Amino acid sequence: MDSFCSPILIIFLSAVFMSSSISLATSSSTYENFLSCVSTHSEPSNPISAVLYTPTNSSFSSLLSSTIQNLRFLSPRAHKPLLIITPTQNSHIQAAVICSRDNGLQIKVRSGGHDYEGLSYRSNVEFIIIDLRNLRSITVDTANKAAWVEAGATIGEVYYHIANKSNTLGFPAGLCPTVGVGGHFSGGGIGTLMRKYGLAADNIIDAYVVDVDGRILDRKSMGEDLFWAIRGGGGASFGIIASWKINLVPVPPTVTVFNVSRTLNQGATQLLNKWQYIANKFNEDLFVRAVSIVTSGATKAESTILVMFQSLFLGSVNGLLPLMQQSFPELGLKAQDCTEMSWINSTLYFAGYTNGESIDVLLNRTLQPKLFYKGKSDFVTQPISITGFENIWKELIAGNSSPQIIMDPLGGRMSNISDTAIPFPHRAGNLYNIQYYMYWQARGTNTTKDHLQRMKEIYKFMSPFVSSSPRAAYLNYKDLDLGRVDVRNTSYTEASVWGNKYFKNNFKKLAVVKNMVDPTNFFWDEQSIPPLS
Ligand SMILES: Cc1cc2nc3c(=O)[nH]c(=O)nc-3n(C[C@H](O)[C@H](O)[C@H](O)COP(=O)(O)OP(=O)(O)OC[C@H]3O[C@@H](n4cnc5c(N)ncnc54)[C@H](O)[C@@H]3O)c2cc1C
Ligand SMILES: *[C@@H]1O[C@H](CO)[C@@H](O)[C@H](O)[C@H]1NC(C)=O
Ligand SMILES: *[C@@H]1O[C@H](CO)[C@@H](O)[C@H](O)[C@H]1NC(C)=O
Ligand SMILES: *[C@@H]1O[C@H](CO)[C@@H](O)[C@H](O)[C@H]1NC(C)=O
Ligand SMILES: *[C@@H]1O[C@H](CO)[C@@H](O)[C@H](O)[C@H]1NC(C)=O
Ligand SMILES: *[C@@H]1O[C@H](CO)[C@@H](O)[C@H](O)[C@H]1NC(C)=O
Ligand SMILES: *[C@@H]1O[C@H](CO)[C@@H](O)[C@H](O)[C@H]1NC(C)=O
Ligand SMILES: *[C@@H]1O[C@H](CO)[C@@H](O)[C@H](O)[C@H]1NC(C)=O
Ligand SMILES: *[C@@H]1O[C@H](CO)[C@@H](O)[C@H](O)[C@H]1NC(C)=O
Repeated sequence: MDSFCSPILIIFLSAVFMSSSISLATSSSTYENFLSCVSTHSEPSNPISAVLYTPTNSSFSSLLSSTIQNLRFLSPRAHKPLLIITPTQNSHIQAAVICSRDNGLQIKVRSGGHDYEGLSYRSNVEFIIIDLRNLRSITVDTANKAAWVEAGATIGEVYYHIANKSNTLGFPAGLCPTVGVGGHFSGGGIGTLMRKYGLAADNIIDAYVVDVDGRILDRKSMGEDLFWAIRGGGGASFGIIASWKINLVPVPPTVTVFNVSRTLNQGATQLLNKWQYIANKFNEDLFVRAVSIVTSGATKAESTILVMFQSLFLGSVNGLLPLMQQSFPELGLKAQDCTEMSWINSTLYFAGYTNGESIDVLLNRTLQPKLFYKGKSDFVTQPISITGFENIWKELIAGNSSPQIIMDPLGGRMSNISDTAIPFPHRAGNLYNIQYYMYWQARGTNTTKDHLQRMKEIYKFMSPFVSSSPRAAYLNYKDLDLGRVDVRNTSYTEASVWGNKYFKNNFKKLAVVKNMVDPTNFFWDEQSIPPLS
């Protein structure tokens, strides 16, 4: 399995882990006050009580675990939320915000549940979950090349509904269909179209957000500072995004994909070394990522590295071959390595569906196999030498387990957008992004501990090869190893430890905006933006 949204794995089950969950001791008065508060803020025609699940409700556990994608956080020891609310209209979100605030409860908001650290559904303090699964309508307006997307939708649903209306419009976002737009768009959103059109967050043109006072604001009423912050700064620090308006982008009726793999004996190291110099400079219609995995042999000596070059080209094979011949002849790409298809079929392809599956799989919200996993990220600003790669391979092969290393090329439009246009700062000067992604499939005595430790070792090992001061990281590959807090009164200095990595010079502006819109830090989590006056 090469892509982390491939369907090959066994799905693990869940209810067992949840059944004996414990709850933080909650004063019954907080609970009752909350319930009576939401009922007074409810419209009689559409009461919030109909979408409110208490722990005694027989659906509570399955609802809670349904989109817990990372099995590390599906544990009997995890604190349960006091309540789960599944709004069917924005007024439910508004009531939940007002009543949580007035009763000193933390809110965690969940869209697709793909947060790498589970921050959308777990906490150490008394909290409720607002799960946006029912708010996921998508309205595509092909005449104006735009769409309104409710925050509980997945990117697969977005792709599907665009393609349902037009075969020449698309949207630049991530590769796995089950990722939610609530987290993904507010954290950036990198994918196969980014060299041509930038991030998902670069293509947001309006939004509805529920603020700390329970008001619902659009771009005009929230102002440009808050609108800036929620496009890459992480929504959870600023409010609850109810819906996004996105700008659709042109795609040709025919695109071309390839997936060419080479082992070390087949020259993978030299190819990857060369790739670093050209992948960020290619014509912006051409995206070629590189994914390396360890393929284990019977003995360590027989293990090797496989590097997969996976590509989307916005055009036909006839357009692609000369470009590759000119810039990357070493790969030896042939017409028979390439497949022409529609853009929507390419979204299936990159999700690992290469056997003629129907595009209906994009609508399946439980497609993603649940795994135990850990991700980390880096940005590379100087090409890694051949010797550097040889040392990296040695380190990867030596361990009992090693992450996939997913290298996504930047450049093109990514370099044309200013570092300060939105909070995502990793633009010109960066060659590519690295994601280290490791998964495992069982909860052994030390399994999780050992894998997490291994990820730390690899991350340390990689430090000479990647960006420094700060060692940059990508918010959507959230990593609590970079620093965390467990209290609401996080100081700006404490938060800078991770804030500077994710946002570089934009961190300060994020903290200033935070102070304008949520000075008491109601919307907080283990790695949120603190207010700075
Ligand atoms: C299998 C997999 C594949 C991935 N592929 C890619 C990829 O190709 N490209 C890429 O860039 N990233 C990718 N990611 C990372 C992904 O973009 C982030 O994990 C993203 O934040 C997930 O969004 P979500 O809504 O599914 O997650 P959630 O866990 O629901 O939310 C993530 C964070 O956003 C907050 N949030 C969610 N909804 C809202 C809202 N409406 N308002 C305010 N805050 C909100 C949550 O509280 C939490 O802090 C992938 C992750 C996984 C697990
Ligand atoms: C669980 O809560 C939902 C939503 O409020 C409600 O519709 C359902 O009847 C409840 N189920 C039980 C068994 O109480
Ligand atoms: C659009 O969706 C409708 C309803 O799901 C379906 O019947 C129709 O075939 C789809 N059209 C296209 C072009 O995908
Ligand atoms: C790419 O090729 C590798 C190895 O040949 C294979 O394991 C992987 O599933 C392929 N990926 C896609 C998206 O086709
Ligand atoms: C997309 O994939 C489906 C299923 O394999 C196939 O029937 C269809 O012809 C493909 N369309 C294009 C334009 O590639
Ligand atoms: C969604 O995908 C999962 C995993 O492949 C599968 O078990 C489930 O049946 C699918 N659901 C639907 C509605 O097709
Ligand atoms: C980036 O900017 C250069 C110079 O202004 C321009 O030629 C190029 O087309 C731009 N590329 C993208 C993808 O916007
Ligand atoms: C788990 O780790 C502990 C401490 O590192 C060690 O003592 C123990 O032997 C390990 N258990 C197994 C089953 O490997
Ligand atoms: C935050 O509050 C805790 C007590 O709740 C206190 O111990 C800690 O010093 C405070 N931290 C800051 C940065 O103010």
